[in-house]
Amino acid sequence: MTDRFAQRRAEFMDQLGDTVAIVPAGKEQVRNDDVDHAFRQNSDFFFLTGFAEPDSVAVFDPSGDVPYTLFVRPRDPEMESWNGRRAGPEGARERFGADAAFTLDELPLRLRTMIADRSNVGYRMGSGADDTVLSAVRAVVNHGERSGIGFPSGIVDVGGILHEMRVIKSADEIAALREACRISAIAHVEAMRYAAPGRTERQVQAAIEYVFASMGSERVGYGSIVAGGDNAVILHYVENDQPLADGDLLLIDAGAEYQHLTADITRTFPINGRFTAPQRAVYDVVLRAEQDVISMCAPGTPYADMHTRAIEILSEGLVDLGLLPGSVDEVIAKGWYRQFYFHGTGHWLGTDVHDAGAYKLERSARPMAPGMAFTVEPGLYIAPEKTTVTLTHSLYDADTALDEVFRLGPAEAKKLREQRDEEAGSLDFTVPEEFLGIGVRIEDDILITESGHENMTSLVPVDPDAIEALCAEDSSIPVF
Ligand code: GLY
Ligand code: MN
Ligand code: MN
Repeated sequence: MTDRFAQRRAEFMDQLGDTVAIVPAGKEQVRNDDVDHAFRQNSDFFFLTGFAEPDSVAVFDPSGDVPYTLFVRPRDPEMESWNGRRAGPEGARERFGADAAFTLDELPLRLRTMIADRSNVGYRMGSGADDTVLSAVRAVVNHGERSGIGFPSGIVDVGGILHEMRVIKSADEIAALREACRISAIAHVEAMRYAAPGRTERQVQAAIEYVFASMGSERVGYGSIVAGGDNAVILHYVENDQPLADGDLLLIDAGAEYQHLTADITRTFPINGRFTAPQRAVYDVVLRAEQDVISMCAPGTPYADMHTRAIEILSEGLVDLGLLPGSVDEVIAKGWYRQFYFHGTGHWLGTDVHDAGAYKLERSARPMAPGMAFTVEPGLYIAPEKTTVTLTHSLYDADTALDEVFRLGPAEAKKLREQRDEEAGSLDFTVPEEFLGIGVRIEDDILITESGHENMTSLVPVDPDAIEALCAEDSSIPVF
């Protein structure tokens, strides 16, 4: 069980040089009173340790006598009989491969000797344990100033090294990711059978999560989104508390986590089993974009090309359907499509649903490579209240705006935006009524292989006829 983690630690330490790296685990968070939120380990920490307990810290010292030390919670029979088993230092050594292990209260003192006389120390920032660990580092610095013992003058974030390692999935990770995808796909198929007018978003969420757990998933990879009707235009709708109406669509974005890797699937289907003509028209545009983008996925294709291509197809569709005026070129150049498509076309997928790692290298497009896993998820969202929209040029996505600031500096970037706005002017446009309140997203999980790609979630149909056929089937999950 520790092998793949040991291999990662070796690779990580190879890149550390003589830096001592401190990687903290996640912390438990109070939900209310005596109840904590369900704990799920910090992804970077788990990636290196395979250790799922909170309140732990891993220290890596590749050039020292003890390369891998774990600080963990002490064994405590009374606490364990209330809150669950703990590995303790002995378990950390025996079962999790630590060269040395101590209880967490020993960290401040031991850290002093571990980082004394080092010029810098590596740290994984933003893990939620900053105060405890950084104050221990600070204590070493204070002591060093007084005593003449050398102390680190800099803290480097080891996130860059770790996240680059996380971009290319190992064989073990691919196996777990495929299983997360298989479980999630079966749950989505069941949801198509189960959903019906009169049932509720919550019941469908329960049906999906029942399949996840029945098939061995530990938890959801993110809060399940079960959005009926115009709730689908809210990207991360999580209330899931409305009844499902005859004639509406249902958008479900849900993924099971398996061995700490998660799937991320979205399907949109008619609650009563039959698409209306406007629903199907919007669906067909999104499907065309999704399938076309998936077909591009292969080693060497720049990752950023997916988004460019999705925008082209969605913009063509928006113009064809009369959802935007002007030519396709104008809709793209002026960013008008962003009225209805305002998120990216995908993201890395792995231990986190929005997995870690750089999308660009030295500010330019990163080519896809075997072992990369990511989502492809175009969508169109026509908010019911957007009966009239004012089309201007100011509909930038945050990435483009930030890129321009980096490239040109804040003052020049602002001038460029103002100039574009002025050239573009503005135009009031009435959105055809039959499309109001329709939200469609289709999302699959793609693995790049040596020869092209594997769609790990193709088990859930996307073809609208196949979806209607599934919706007509009965679910074996009872309704209570
Ligand atoms: N489920 C979150 C996303 O699709 O990115
Ligand atoms: Mn996603
Ligand atoms: Mn999703």
